[in-house]
Amino acid sequence: MSVLLTEPRPEAVIVALDEVPLPLSAVALFGRHCPLELELGVGKGRFAIAWAQAHPEIALLGVERARTYLELAALRAVRAGVGNLRLVHTTAEDLLFRCLGVGSVAGVHVYFPDPWPKKRHHKRRFFRPENVARLAEVMEEGALLRVKTDHPEYAQVIRRVVEDDGRFAPVPAGEAFAAIPPTHFELKYQAQSRLVYLMAWRVLAS
Ligand SMILES: C[S@@+](CC[C@H](N)C(=O)[O-])C[C@H]1O[C@@H](n2cnc3c(N)ncnc32)[C@H](O)[C@@H]1O
Repeated sequence: MSVLLTEPRPEAVIVALDEVPLPLSAVALFGRHCPLELELGVGKGRFAIAWAQAHPEIALLGVERARTYLELAALRAVRAGVGNLRLVHTTAEDLLFRCLGVGSVAGVHVYFPDPWPKKRHHKRRFFRPENVARLAEVMEEGALLRVKTDHPEYAQVIRRVVEDDGRFAPVPAGEAFAAIPPTHFELKYQAQSRLVYLMAWRVLAS
């Protein structure tokens, strides 16, 4: 008798956005009512897998625009047997503006967003007023926005843009990041003893 051993398929974790009803919900994605959290720019998936494993009570939806990273993250998630993580291949902006409804998200993680250090590229940065305004809309009251960056100038910009929006109250980093697993980039920066800025806010009642 021969046994066919098949590799778990990453497609089980990747959600095709043209095959699910929009706006996205935990019920549509995971078949159950539970808090839906987002990670924007999952990279190779290190944080997403660890966070989903540590919190089976939530559903985590990760977005990544680089197909090769997305597929690697999905393969790792399938191999790790994580059932409460789904990944979508699009941009964070498309996910926020087209795919999610108002007040539908219980938490957002943005770790090491591309800093686009050259001045002529600043307009490509994720943290700009219209994206932060949309975050405030899709996040429910009391939801946490957590951000990490190694880039000092971008850290200042992020803090200013989020706080200028007026709908986010700062949360002490020690409280917000106490149990947050490191990302792939973070481990790399720790090995280089590079300073990392941790910032968190809670969405205020409207
Ligand atoms: C510097 S890497 C950090 C990856 C991961 N968060 C980490 O800390 O290891 C930034 C990631 O965000 C992705 N990314 C950048 N802009 C994006 C966008 N607008 N929408 C979705 N993903 C984006 C990039 O492809 C890349 O994988």
